[in-house]
Amino acid sequence: MAKLDITHAVQTLREAAAPDGKSIVLHEPRFAGLEWEYVKDCLDTGWVSSVGAYVDRFEKELAEAFGVRRAIAAVNGTAALHIALMLAGVKPGDEVLVPALTFAATANAVAYCGAIPHFVDSSMETLGLDPDALDAWLTQIAEPGEQGPRNRNTGRRLAAVVPMHTFGHPVAIDRLLEVTEKWGLPVVEDAAESLGSLSNGRPLGGRGMIGITSFNGNKIITTGGGGAILTNDEYLGDRAKYLTTTAKRPHRWTFWHDELGYNYRLPNLNAALGCAQLQQLPTFVTAKRRLAARYQDAFATVEGLYFFVEPTDTQSNYWLNSVILDEARDRDDFLTATNDAGLMTRPCWTLMCDLPMYKGSPSMPLPVAREIEQRLVSIPSSAVLALD
Ligand SMILES: Cc1ncc(COP(=O)(O)O)c(C=O)c1O
Repeated sequence: MAKLDITHAVQTLREAAAPDGKSIVLHEPRFAGLEWEYVKDCLDTGWVSSVGAYVDRFEKELAEAFGVRRAIAAVNGTAALHIALMLAGVKPGDEVLVPALTFAATANAVAYCGAIPHFVDSSMETLGLDPDALDAWLTQIAEPGEQGPRNRNTGRRLAAVVPMHTFGHPVAIDRLLEVTEKWGLPVVEDAAESLGSLSNGRPLGGRGMIGITSFNGNKIITTGGGGAILTNDEYLGDRAKYLTTTAKRPHRWTFWHDELGYNYRLPNLNAALGCAQLQQLPTFVTAKRRLAARYQDAFATVEGLYFFVEPTDTQSNYWLNSVILDEARDRDDFLTATNDAGLMTRPCWTLMCDLPMYKGSPSMPLPVAREIEQRLVSIPSSAVLALD
């Protein structure tokens, strides 16, 4: 194993990312399209709130971008995931299989349903949930129950699997779908980070029963805050729209809500931003892929780490670029040196099983997720670093 020369690694990052010596952040949004025009239109017409033409248009254009029949705009990705899990049939007391290596929202949305996250290991090739490890684990712990597979250790129903495409890199979705079909488990796809990515030429988010995405400020396109539910099932699409808009039955004046609904609507103002941002998605993806190629080239000469490259048969949006260090013990020194040099870098998320609220949650052994947690560092990734 080669030793990491931190000074050389920082210099390489500086030259590949921002040779002009400026400080750079991990990810900044870019508003170079029709954002001002569309937002002004909302202000001029007074349509700023929870309904409006931009919401309808954004939903239609998102469905095309994700290759799904229905996209339902939501106030953020976490809220979208909450509803998606409910629609997949997740009930209080169920267990839901989620990667241990993910942003907290993936597990939190499970907890909002009164269910318990059950942690799954990751793959070093994709950084996402490992379908073969999941299959092997289910062989050990699952048994048939009245309403699908059950965890024989806890007696709880296993209700769904939530793959997440880490930093835009697709999980092995085809293999995962084989495994989930074998076990009779619905897939709720967390595609918060993967708009614009392809797996075997197909977009992500609509491969399972239902999926979600996010338009938070740090994502490849942003609406300030926002998200969407994605599905090919018209019935689930109608239910998603209904539940996220307070479960109100349409009527000229009567307020009749016939079940517990949620105010998870995306305001028209934010959807206006989204429409303008979506037009620039191809430009952003091209720039990010160009930046990734530059990093891959540059880091090829640096011993002691490697640049993470998209998995085979996929085209990643490279939402967040990362390097993986040979030695976990170098991580904090590399983080310190890069941040001191004005190059913003961050470690991966703390594994969900280590967060206080999930300490008692069931989990398979997590050797790969732990390796990634200890050795991965995310590096500056804004599209603006590599625009034409
Ligand atoms: C993997 C993942 N899931 C869910 C979310 C939640 O999205 P939001 O921040 O829009 O609630 C995010 C991002 O923030 C995310 O990265």
